[in-house]
Amino acid sequence: MANKNFINNDFADVVLNRHSVKKFEKGFKIPHSELLQMVQQAVRAPSAINSQPWHFLIVDSDAGKEKLDEFMVGPDKALSKGASATIIVLGDTKWYRKDHFDKTYEHYPKEASDFFHKMLDWWVPQLLDSSKDELGSGMDEMLAVNNAIVTMQFVLIARAHGYDANIADDFKREGLVKAFGLDDDRYKPMLFFVVGKADPKEIPEKTYRLPAADVTTFA
Ligand SMILES: Cc1cc2nc3c(=O)[nH]c(=O)nc-3n(C[C@H](O)[C@H](O)[C@H](O)COP(=O)(O)O)c2cc1C
Repeated sequence: MANKNFINNDFADVVLNRHSVKKFEKGFKIPHSELLQMVQQAVRAPSAINSQPWHFLIVDSDAGKEKLDEFMVGPDKALSKGASATIIVLGDTKWYRKDHFDKTYEHYPKEASDFFHKMLDWWVPQLLDSSKDELGSGMDEMLAVNNAIVTMQFVLIARAHGYDANIADDFKREGLVKAFGLDDDRYKPMLFFVVGKADPKEIPEKTYRLPAADVTTFA
């Protein structure tokens, strides 16, 4: 995967100096071609049986932002108004369908493709029917886990492109997918993040983390 469009290739800086940035340079737009590159890099994230159960609704037009505002609540309204783009991460509840799953597995050797199709045949009935669920996870949990992973990767990719972001998950989900003309039987809003060029006048808040030993158990 070409990384020549990374303007920040310093892994430690990208990961360890990341902060949730809430104020962005006004009027700055990330070109769609670059947003698509960022999507392509973000989706290098792993997912269960390479299901890639996600879809990105990128809202960056004035009309889109106005529509999105109806679904934003509390202080997060200001977040999405001031950013270059707000990216709503949608869980794809139909990721196991041929028109999605086979698009990946047609690129695999037959043996590997057969193996993953067997996994699919064993797992999906459990995700769809709690009475068959040996794993006790279900589709909602599967989507939450996989979409959180791709979101984090996207945020770090954004930093590698010289941008910053803030993840958030408080918003009105009901009606959002339909309002943007997408299939609400298929897509489920999971979380969102805002992205843009950090306002250089705003010094990011230094945030504290608990000591490693407090949050770790060796066994
Ligand atoms: C799942 C999730 C939900 C969050 N929700 C919000 C939110 O609604 N509004 C907000 O301003 N920040 C939100 N944040 C950002 C956190 O407040 C932030 O990551 C945390 O305070 C640590 O700060 P840092 O990211 O700058 O280190 C959220 C982060 C995550 C991962």
